Amino acid sequence: MRTDKDAAPFGDGDEVPSNHSGNPHIGDLIQGISRRHVITGGMAMGMLAFLGVSVPRACNAGAAQGLLKQPSSLTFAAVAVTRADTVTVPEGYQAKAFIPWGTPICGSYPAYRDDGSNTAEEQAQQTGMHHDGMHYFPIDAQNGKGHNSEHGLLVLNHEYIDAPLLHPNGPSLVDGKRTVPEEVRKEINAHGVSVVEIHRTPNGDWEVVGNSKFGRRITAATPMEIQGPARGHALLRTRYSPDGTATRGTQNNCGNGFTPWGTYLTCEENWAGYFASKDSEKPRELGRYGVGSSSRYAWETLDGDEFQRFDATRTATDASGDYRNEPNHFGWIVEIDPFDPKSVPVKHTALGRFAHEGVIFAPARPGKPVVCYSGDDSRNEYIYKYVSHGKFRPGHADNSRLLDEGTLYVARFNADGSGDWLPLDIQDPAFLAACAAKGVSFTDQGDVLINTRTAADVVGATKMDRPEWGAVHPETGEVYFTLTNNTNRTEADAANPRTNNAYGHIIRWQEENQEHAGTRFTWNIFLLGGPQSDSHGSDGEALDADSIHASPDGLWFDPEGRLWIQTDMSGSQLSSGPFGNNQMLVADPESGELKRFLVGPVGCEVTGITATPDFRTLFVNIQHPGEGSTPDRLLSTWPDGSGKRPRAATVVITRDGWRRVL
Ligand code: FEO
Ligand code: CA
Ligand code: CA
Repeated sequence: MRTDKDAAPFGDGDEVPSNHSGNPHIGDLIQGISRRHVITGGMAMGMLAFLGVSVPRACNAGAAQGLLKQPSSLTFAAVAVTRADTVTVPEGYQAKAFIPWGTPICGSYPAYRDDGSNTAEEQAQQTGMHHDGMHYFPIDAQNGKGHNSEHGLLVLNHEYIDAPLLHPNGPSLVDGKRTVPEEVRKEINAHGVSVVEIHRTPNGDWEVVGNSKFGRRITAATPMEIQGPARGHALLRTRYSPDGTATRGTQNNCGNGFTPWGTYLTCEENWAGYFASKDSEKPRELGRYGVGSSSRYAWETLDGDEFQRFDATRTATDASGDYRNEPNHFGWIVEIDPFDPKSVPVKHTALGRFAHEGVIFAPARPGKPVVCYSGDDSRNEYIYKYVSHGKFRPGHADNSRLLDEGTLYVARFNADGSGDWLPLDIQDPAFLAACAAKGVSFTDQGDVLINTRTAADVVGATKMDRPEWGAVHPETGEVYFTLTNNTNRTEADAANPRTNNAYGHIIRWQEENQEHAGTRFTWNIFLLGGPQSDSHGSDGEALDADSIHASPDGLWFDPEGRLWIQTDMSGSQLSSGPFGNNQMLVADPESGELKRFLVGPVGCEVTGITATPDFRTLFVNIQHPGEGSTPDRLLSTWPDGSGKRPRAATVVITRDGWRRVL
């Protein structure tokens, strides 16, 4: 999702920064490590070794001194920066648009109409708008790993909407109030998640399977269950669910995850903007998350329970009579079993409530806890880790319960390259002492989790430059996270080394003893995005014409340990900077190489990536092409061309000769 707040008249969705805690930046604690010393040159290599960080072979052995070069694993010719209104991939590759917004995937498979005239009911049987995180489940993958690379379930998020393009003539508003319930129902149905059964035809193209028993739309109105420590909490009671155990819908589903037991996880990111509260005094569970007095799409301005639930103003004598607590039903990670179309999605409160970008699991080991990481994408927010109390048992029916009992930690990146995972656990003496010292109290663990940001403030977590996606190296176990940008940063620190960080960077860490469930780690900066004059790659050298980029966001390791990086630039950086349209690059952490693999069409962001097990098909999402378009003024016509409205779509990438993508 783009980040400049002024450009999109009907809301682009990022939250207002709301971390006003006094937590120090790292620079407050220890001064004197320049950003170049974090990774660059022999001194940095020595420092990394001192810190116990596993240094990539090429860097360690000599890349920094120019002595050794690994054989390149990036065998394609880099794509040049471009502002072409198409998807550009290297020679020898094909990129085809697939399942764009409005594609029929279930029910009566209603055809897409390109004038915006599909009904709300039809939208609930078609792919939603603004594709984002995504995962391919081989059709034989029920309860775990599968192998089928030509038939599977593609499950994808729909982060938000461009209302001007969703309807024939944009949204209807009078004096700031919505006037057409059918329009709002369509907007609600264009959000959420799609489960799409797909297969590869004999001619090599992928297509949607008709009459699928799996095809499903989950929307911002689908009934869901609340699980974990906050289930039934007083702060979750609403008119719809007086006992605080159920809710409706998921929204602003940005990045994603998938579990070791074969289910999909969708992450609720900038949900706060969907709600309005006219109360002058807002409780911390609203105020700390940026819920304001008006909402992005004004859904709450219509009468009727289905719309009034977006109005969090206190109107009744207690919470069971209004929707003051409805915003507390959002900001969670939601589990969906794509193989059971009747399953009720579950919001797992143990994983914390914040602007979840995505969630990434460490490799699961039988008999060990499961561990996953998630970033809170807002300026100066935090990175979290969850460690289950129970042990992973492959094939067991109740592995989902592992996400209901566990410890949520938040990261502190120390200036000396070490790091600590700080538990947000009301049973933990250190947490209680920190609460007492700050004069903050929580009634129970459910309260801690509903107010995750406040709990993280209390323990002194490190404010980061908008944590987006994470990825775990399949061999080394190192965890990489994108920090997309933070133009609000006025004071640099070691882990966020640039003030007014417009370009973003990628940080990585290694858990102590490579034990993901532990509480200590060592970290370094993998790369700094930006133009050649203000950037460096993992080899310590400035980025070049093949690798300059800004605002890294999506992140994914392929099976051979190459890191795929997707960008989400916006505003003037996108329209007139040196980087062209948003793009996807590939990094080889071993050799230090970084090359641009794909450039998206005008106005899009590139986000969401998954592949078939044979790595012959790569799926990538293109979100909001032509962002800011209206029916009368199309800034992009990708992928349909010839005057048609732009549509978010998946791109199917294959290589000549049906070879592995890399
Ligand atoms: Fe939806 Fe943080 O990008
Ligand atoms: Ca982003
Ligand atoms: Ca993102």
